[in-house]
Amino acid sequence: MIDIKIVKDKKEVAEEAFKVMKPYLQPGKVLGLATGSSPLGIYELMIKDHKENGTSYKDILTFNLDEYVGLPITHRESYYRFMHDNLFNYIDIPEENIHVPSGIGEDLDAQCEAYEKMLDEHPVDIQLLGLGSDGHIGFNEPGTPFDQGTHVGDLTESTIRDNQRFFNDLGETTPTRACTMGPASIMKSKKILLVAYGANKAEAVKGMLEGPVTEDCPASILQRHADVTVILDEEAASLLTK
Ligand code: F6R
Repeated sequence: MIDIKIVKDKKEVAEEAFKVMKPYLQPGKVLGLATGSSPLGIYELMIKDHKENGTSYKDILTFNLDEYVGLPITHRESYYRFMHDNLFNYIDIPEENIHVPSGIGEDLDAQCEAYEKMLDEHPVDIQLLGLGSDGHIGFNEPGTPFDQGTHVGDLTESTIRDNQRFFNDLGETTPTRACTMGPASIMKSKKILLVAYGANKAEAVKGMLEGPVTEDCPASILQRHADVTVILDEEAASLLTK
């Protein structure tokens, strides 16, 4: 079941999404988190709530969706660093409660398997997702089999191109692979909260909500989940017909 909320702009998307997150910000809960621009407004509200209301993350676990292959956690563009710069450094979560897949190691497949095992041991209560303009969730690009768990995936040309701006000015090559929770890992979460704003997401939003359930549009798998909330701004919702 997908509950769709359409609001005016990205600020309201964050406010509505925070309202959905808030009941999960309590001891014992497991949060699935995302990087990228979509969740930033929500993270700001989580930080504000922590500061103003004393909401504590001491007994909350977090699992992030993905990480680039080849980037150490100290790299400016690593998702580990992103999460610390935009959320973890400003709340009271202990470092050992934080889980981000590692893109560095001898045997990435074994590391992905271990990550999936941790997800099974600590089922995610709410998974926050953004949406790629090609319909990807996590780094599950079109064509990723729905039954895949955490795995190493290739990024598409368009995703690599989108990311180039972040790496070019460092004089580095853009990563071409990522460790990511798979569609099957994401579907294990008890609740899913997806946020999207902006006209460049409209096509993917339509595919996700009104298209057939197909591996060509990874986000369409959410139609099979029992408890999904999708929060969109008017632009992202502009191609919906229903
Ligand atoms: C990030 C992730 C990606 C993004 C998606 C949208 O952890 O898994 O699927 O959610 O690429 O990115 P933004 O929010 O930057 O438009």
